[in-house]
Amino acid sequence: MLSPEEQQEIAAVAAHYELKKAAGIDALRIVQRHRGWVSDQTLRDVAEALEMSPTDLDSVATFYNLIFRRPVGRHVILICDSVSCWVMGYENLLDHLQRRLGIGLGQTTSDGLFTLLPHVCLGACDQAPAMMIDDQLYGCLDAEKIDAILGSFEK
Ligand code: FES
Repeated sequence: MLSPEEQQEIAAVAAHYELKKAAGIDALRIVQRHRGWVSDQTLRDVAEALEMSPTDLDSVATFYNLIFRRPVGRHVILICDSVSCWVMGYENLLDHLQRRLGIGLGQTTSDGLFTLLPHVCLGACDQAPAMMIDDQLYGCLDAEKIDAILGSFEK
């Protein structure tokens, strides 16, 4: 069940569109901001609020890969695996991140702090190799820089 706050925010966004279902992505982002991810039940509740079928909303959620359909950690690390980052050392950085966190791609640390996911180009090719943690972009990465960044979240 959507909270009154979520219902209010979704209604406000949907009011900008002729058809409520046009607010699909925005509505999913709203619930993800509140809950961290979008469960099947939440997706059905959002679909109902937008007067659309859960199947149609699920296809929107699947297409937009920043909607998490499974539980994630408190912080989500998106490591870019596209060409520029690959050339600039993606594989070594991924190895380092995986060792440092003790998890593989698609997994969450046992303390629930980080989830590590691959991502296509983050639009920061001039700063390759790059990653994002939540909404913050980090570029020109090396192992040392990654340790410092992760350390700032672990405090
Ligand atoms: S290729 Fe990695 S940010 Fe573009």
